[in-house]
Amino acid sequence: MMQVKVFEDYDTLSRYAADIFLEQIEKKPDAVLGLATGGTPEGFYKHLITSYQNEKLDFSTLRTFNLDEYYPIKREHPQSYWTFMNDRLFAYVNIPNRNIHLPNGETTNVDAECNRYEEEIGSIGGVDIQILGIGENGHIGFNEPGASFDSRTRMVELTKNTIQANSRYFESEEDVPRHAITMGIASIMQSKKIVILASGVKKAEAVAKAIQGEVTEELPASILQKHPDVIFLLDKEAASLLQS
Ligand code: F6R
Repeated sequence: MMQVKVFEDYDTLSRYAADIFLEQIEKKPDAVLGLATGGTPEGFYKHLITSYQNEKLDFSTLRTFNLDEYYPIKREHPQSYWTFMNDRLFAYVNIPNRNIHLPNGETTNVDAECNRYEEEIGSIGGVDIQILGIGENGHIGFNEPGASFDSRTRMVELTKNTIQANSRYFESEEDVPRHAITMGIASIMQSKKIVILASGVKKAEAVAKAIQGEVTEELPASILQKHPDVIFLLDKEAASLLQS
């Protein structure tokens, strides 16, 4: 079932997302969390850290899998998704390093790395709860328009639109890696529960198409209409093109 909730502001939306995760973790303290990078979940991570500091959340038995990583990129590169996660969450909570998983952007054998990642998720029973953002073009993870709904973890080429959107984190557009390793759409759809966040008017068109449009590979997030347990958390701007 798909649920949609619209919030007055970004902070309320972020807190609500964190509360959904807390509720799941209470039921399953060794839950497998699917995590995303990007600007949208930053508030969500802040609320998770606050919950940890208030002793409402213990990361010691949680396991995390991130959606994607640039390729090629060194783990310690300031813009790697590993660094992003470390700076926004992992450095502040008691998660054991061995419980943290991201695709390895340094690998020399991309196919083996993709298979390993996909198998590792499968071997621990799959993701229990996945946080997602949405691209302005409707992408989820780095599954750009046209990606197969059957796709699994693999290397992809980033679109111009995504390179431009992500260049805000780099010195220039030329510095953005052209490829990434991403969980596929089928990998994401296997998560037992999905929480997708969108904030700002730039996301309004993709959000409206994802929720009310045709289910098509041209708008990757539209596949979520077929997921049994997905909730869209939107601020008013991101919800502004939804038809009531
Ligand atoms: C990040 C990811 C991407 C982002 C999307 C939105 O791991 O997989 O799909 O969720 O590009 O990015 P922001 O939140 O920066 O607008």
